[in-house]
Amino acid sequence: MYILGIESSCDETSAAVVQMEEGRREVLSNIVASQIEIHRLYGGVVPEIASRAHIEAISRITYEALDTAGLSINDIGCIAVTSHPGLIGALLVGVNFAKSLAYAQGIPLVAVNHIKAHIAAAYLEYPQLKAPFTALVVSGGHTAFYSVDTPTDLREIGGTRDDAAGEAFDKIGRVIGMPYPGGAAMDRLAYEGDPKSIKLPSPAIIGDNADFSFSGLKTAALNFINSERQKGAEPSHADIAASYTKVIVDAILKKTEYIIDRYRPAQLVLAGGVAANSHIRGALEGLCKRKRIEFCKPSMSLCSDNAAMVAAAGYFEYLAGNFADTSLNASANDDGN
Ligand code: KG4
Ligand code: ZN
Repeated sequence: MYILGIESSCDETSAAVVQMEEGRREVLSNIVASQIEIHRLYGGVVPEIASRAHIEAISRITYEALDTAGLSINDIGCIAVTSHPGLIGALLVGVNFAKSLAYAQGIPLVAVNHIKAHIAAAYLEYPQLKAPFTALVVSGGHTAFYSVDTPTDLREIGGTRDDAAGEAFDKIGRVIGMPYPGGAAMDRLAYEGDPKSIKLPSPAIIGDNADFSFSGLKTAALNFINSERQKGAEPSHADIAASYTKVIVDAILKKTEYIIDRYRPAQLVLAGGVAANSHIRGALEGLCKRKRIEFCKPSMSLCSDNAAMVAAAGYFEYLAGNFADTSLNASANDDGN
């Protein structure tokens, strides 16, 4: 069955066609129109501008996805659209477009949770992945562990109590002059610095939990940079990137080990834009090997926001009979309400 996925929750307009059946997973197209260049001027995503850019791109991107897949809209068996969580104005563009297309063409429509979609990216490259398993979603807006009980049911079992890891990377990246979003540049620069040179607080919350807090770490890094600058010296950006990355990776490693020991999953899925971080991938790879569990880490193009992951999640909503109709609305919240 061919599924058309549509994603517009933040600053990427994306449409994709995937073929999913029992034992078959194929991404036929996955077109992403990034708005990063537009938002870079402002140092972050401007919601109003994001909505407008989605409106301009969505129809073109959708037909490009169909063309690239070599299909017409009549071949599509289901349309899957991200309905929550995200920027409300941005989500509404995708939801309204998908509703109109589904209604006009008489195609079943399913609503997809963006977090579930990030996790579902793993099904595309790991066909043997089978719920129940554990997932760690690390993105610009989320950092949480989930117990995936069935492909459509998630339970949060730990996570950040304030900011997300991606936001924490981007924030300090900006302070040391990296263009938005600084996550990938911080990843590269961290190899050139000394990870022990600057003492920073761990974002892992002490105790019997799998929780994080990134706000104290961000403030400590910011204070360090400002106090060095007040003394008239620019601190080494490479040392900042290396030390900052080290405390984040160590915290993620520690809490993932806690989760593995407590829930004993057979598989761990790493998902979300920050899953592209090579230090995090490397550390979790080693941990999973040590714990003898399978580590499912989708390719970079399936980690950052894209519509193939939305189509993959949509397939399971379709199988579960969770159809949406023209009353479907977008929601900024995690629970869709
Ligand atoms: O999942 P995503 O594309 O969008 C959200 O749903 O948030 O994640 C974007 C985030 C940004 O904060 C970006 O800086 C971060 O992922 N990111 C990285 C890397 N590549 C992207 N963070 C750390 N290391 C990377 N290599
Ligand atoms: Zn995302």
